[in-house]
This record gives sequence, structure tokens and C-alpha cells, in this order.
Amino acid sequence: MDFNQHIRVIPDFPKPGISFKDITTLLGNGPAYREAIDALKKQVEHLKIDLIAGPEARGFVVGAPLAYALGVGFVPIRKSGKLPYKTVEVEYDLEYGTDCLAMHIDAVQPGQNVLIADDLLATGGTIATSVDLVHQLGGNVVGAAFLIELEELNGRSRLNDVEVFHLIKG
Ligand code: PRP
Repeated sequence: MDFNQHIRVIPDFPKPGISFKDITTLLGNGPAYREAIDALKKQVEHLKIDLIAGPEARGFVVGAPLAYALGVGFVPIRKSGKLPYKTVEVEYDLEYGTDCLAMHIDAVQPGQNVLIADDLLATGGTIATSVDLVHQLGGNVVGAAFLIELEELNGRSRLNDVEVFHLIKG
């Protein structure tokens, strides 16, 4: 399947010069959504994965079905202040200002192998922060899987030795 044809590109959103890759058109098409998750599963199923971690919010719609398909658990990475139990938190830079991602302190056990999943790899800030959180909990990051990788932004350069998987190059 050409997954690209199911992604809607919105010019100048959220601001002039940005071409927004809208995955809602893929998610809304049952066969395309299922095939995309199955294709990502095929790319990562050779890895030893104990858990999938996905950052809020679009990481949930990729990570959770992938976890279900692989038969492993899913843990959310959330914006600060959303998780109810004790957390580890890491701040990261946005274009203007900073944001903060958090995980429950017991979401990953030391030594567990974690695959991180999200819809999009752009600058890599979100995933680099997610990798940092999993490492702080003692987990091993065995890979990072995306529907779309915007290669020109070279986000994977921030991921050091983490293997990157994608369905679509943007
Ligand atoms: C988007 C996207 C990725 C991230 C990619 O999330 O879903 O998580 O940005 O960008 P980066 O590689 O430059 O960090 P966003 O922060 O917009 O949150 P959302 O999923 O809640 O809309």
C-alpha cells in the first residue's frame, strides 16, 4: 500500500511555510490504519520488546495498537501534570520556550526493552526526551518507530545509537 496517499498535507499550518502532515485521514480509513500498524509491526517484530512507550497525543494512536499487535504492554509519556502517580520528568526546548514530558516512576522496570512509537519524527526533540525518560527509569531503548520521518530535519541525529523505523519519508 502507498501509505503516502492516505496522508493529507495542509500547507501553511500551523504557520506560514510549514506543510502539516495530517494523519487523521489515515486513521479514519480502517484498512489503511490496520495495514500501517501491521507494516510497522513487521519492521520491529525481530526486536526483543517488553513494552512500547508513546508520547502524548499522537504517539498513543500508533503505540497502543502496535503494542496490542505485538502482545506487549503500552505505557504513556505525558505532558507534565497529567499523570496521577509519582513521575520522572524531563524538560525540552520548543521553538519558543520549553515543555516537559513525564512518565510514572514504575512504568518501566530496570532492564526492560522499550520500543518508542510516535506518528512523526521531525526535529527529534520529543523522541530524544522520551529516550531520556526511559533511560532514567533503567530501561533499554531498542528502537523508535514512526509513521512518518521528515528526513530533512535530521531528527535521527539526536537519537545516537537508537535504531529508527518509519513507513513514510516526508
Ligand atoms: C508532534 C508529533 C510528534 C512531535 C514531532 O507532537 O506528534 O510527537 O510533534 O516533533 P519533533 O520531532 O520536532 O519533536 P506535538 O508536540 O504537536 O503533540 P500532539 O501529538 O499532542 O499534537
